[in-house]
Amino acid sequence: MNREKTKQKTRVFSGVQPSGDLHIGNYLGAIRRWAAEQYLKENYFCIVDMHAITVYQDPEVLRRKTRDVAALYVACGIDPAISTIFIQSHVPAHAECTWILNCVTPVGWLVRMTQYKVKSAVQESVSTGLLDYPVLQASDILLYDADEVPVGEDQKQHVELTRDIAQRFNRLYGETFVVPEPRLPASGARIRAFNDPTRKMSKSEAQVRGHAVRLVDPPDEIRMVIKRAVTDTGREIRFSDDPQKAGVNNLLEIYELLTAESRLDIEAHFAGKGYAELKEEVAEVIIEALRPIQERYQSLISDPAELDDILADGAARASAVAGPKVQEIKARVGFLQKKPCEGL
Ligand code: AMP
Ligand code: TRP
Repeated sequence: MNREKTKQKTRVFSGVQPSGDLHIGNYLGAIRRWAAEQYLKENYFCIVDMHAITVYQDPEVLRRKTRDVAALYVACGIDPAISTIFIQSHVPAHAECTWILNCVTPVGWLVRMTQYKVKSAVQESVSTGLLDYPVLQASDILLYDADEVPVGEDQKQHVELTRDIAQRFNRLYGETFVVPEPRLPASGARIRAFNDPTRKMSKSEAQVRGHAVRLVDPPDEIRMVIKRAVTDTGREIRFSDDPQKAGVNNLLEIYELLTAESRLDIEAHFAGKGYAELKEEVAEVIIEALRPIQERYQSLISDPAELDDILADGAARASAVAGPKVQEIKARVGFLQKKPCEGL
């Protein structure tokens, strides 16, 4: 772990699966923050296609969604000149590292993961990959010696497991990995579903009408979804932890995150107004926030060459870090180094 000598800036790693449609929960809980903080740090933002196939994906759809997520990263303000944007399967070190980390990870740690329990409960047949998913995630993070992992609340447990795996490896084989910190946002860590505010907004359900606002939804669709958002039978528009008020609180949090106004000002602004007005205003704020993102997304999707270049460059930059790191890991566990072969 010689990075201390060369490291200038805090390293950040995060990723999104190219399954389902990106929604404002992904934006507010994750991507927007990555973009806001990128200039102060050294960043790796991955499109985790290997994670996506832990449940079956139609190959054509997976290819399209992988490009979509990459385009949306850029459209949401991640600057490829500053941050490394890449596709996980383009950097083979992720798979190699996963095998080695599998061998220091007790199965008991994996069966205890909440996301595994939830996802496996609704499937007839559970793939080994679904169980192993957090070890692949640990590889993503540890290969880059990331200090910080900005994620929504649902991913905190996986980052904590990553810390346990790193510490165990370091104990067994000597100091190899940086032990990363999860970074959760104060607000927006858990944007709730509009059709059921007891649950989080989820990519896998983003196509269900009324569940989410997707980043690419047109204004009329956004107005319709917000208008139908589940609230409560009361009238009070205020921030609250009361589960009964989760729907209204969710709308207010979105408004807060997008306008950057204080909670006091927001409550004063809506005092005496009804839920219908709250919804209309929230919808307009979302539409305005998404407008520039959608314009940039459209231009990137209609000209594939620019995106291809960004991803090729990203894979090269990521490999330059992950490649040497996986060699270090292999040496640590006692793999014999291959003698360089003429011409190869
Ligand atoms: P996923 O959609 O599970 O691939 O998550 C991608 C990123 O978005 C992760 O950092 C998640 O924690 C975050 N995220 C996903 N859903 C939400 C949500 N409803 N609210 C806030 N953050 C979310
Ligand atoms: N499991 C994460 C999710 O579903 C995505 C992910 C994969 C990730 N590798 C990562 C997030 C590494 C942070 C760091 O949201």
